[in-house]
Amino acid sequence: MRIAVTGATGVLGQQAVEALVAAGHEVTGVTRRERGLPIVEGRGAHGVIADVFSASDLERTFRGHDVVINTLAKIPTGMGALRPFAWREDDRLHLEASAAIATAAARAGVGKLIQESSMFMYPDNGSKWISEDHPLAVKNQAFKPRVREMRAAVDFAENGRSAVILRLGQLYGRDPGTTYALRKTREGEAVLLGKPSDYLTLVHHIDAGRAFLAALGARSGFYNVGGEPITRARWAKDLGREARAGMDAKFFPAATQAVLPAKMDVQRRSLRVSSIRFMRETGWRPTIGPSSLGWSRI
Ligand SMILES: NC(=O)c1ccc[n+]([C@@H]2O[C@H](COP(=O)([O-])OP(=O)(O)OC[C@H]3O[C@@H](n4cnc5c(N)ncnc54)[C@H](OP(=O)(O)O)[C@@H]3O)[C@@H](O)[C@H]2O)c1
Repeated sequence: MRIAVTGATGVLGQQAVEALVAAGHEVTGVTRRERGLPIVEGRGAHGVIADVFSASDLERTFRGHDVVINTLAKIPTGMGALRPFAWREDDRLHLEASAAIATAAARAGVGKLIQESSMFMYPDNGSKWISEDHPLAVKNQAFKPRVREMRAAVDFAENGRSAVILRLGQLYGRDPGTTYALRKTREGEAVLLGKPSDYLTLVHHIDAGRAFLAALGARSGFYNVGGEPITRARWAKDLGREARAGMDAKFFPAATQAVLPAKMDVQRRSLRVSSIRFMRETGWRPTIGPSSLGWSRI
């Protein structure tokens, strides 16, 4: 198939491109800058420069493709997420670029859109399981960009087209966010939100990349994509071991956690999310778990 990937130079995009190319697909990687081209081409795709906020530019880029995969994001790392306007770029990508991508893909005659989304929109559900049918907790204005992005993908799935929306778990691996957490853990500083008994659902960035390939075979709909959920106490141990810190990763004190902005507060939600629907639909399985040492170096 001919597949265009937006965000192709990013953590998720590069993994998606690599998995698609390895499976024999002809992949176009979209970047806004000249220096993005060798990154995309290094993963085996054809690189194209385009403005992801311009539907007309994108329409030209997407023409002749069967599928568009949107992995765009700009999530701030570590304490940088607390800075004023830290999320402005990420918000704009989900609010404006994702809508432009869905519109352009429809106009260009693309049949399928695969849209990255997030499990962090589910409400805290303690130790109870969460499936795709669970209502989202997105009333706060902070979630507007992600909601708009979902709507754009759902609207795309008309007139015989299909849209697959992947609600990814918390990414971990050799990415800037995890690298920061490992460094802080080695330095003995707090990195974790929530309580040790809370759940989180992780997905290694390599498995997330493979999920975009698997999603080519999925019917329209929302799918959770993560590994077996673990407690945050377990994740604190896994992070500590992977960091070779000689201790578990530390939690922020309750008083600090109580004053977080909405974007960060989602990381306190206990999310025991099932990915069975995606596994049954596509055969995808996670291949890398957080307790197998070395996951931050692959
Ligand atoms: N579910 C999750 O937990 C989750 C999801 C996503 C990311 N993350 C984490 O967040 C951290 C950062 O990852 P990221 O995906 O946000 O960033 P990233 O890996 O740097 O990727 C950003 C991608 O979006 C494009 N982009 C960024 N800002 C743009 C803008 N203003 N205009 C146009 N294109 C833009 C870039 O393309 P160009 O080539 O054009 O620069 C790049 O391909 C990582 O640690 C990652 O693991 C976590």
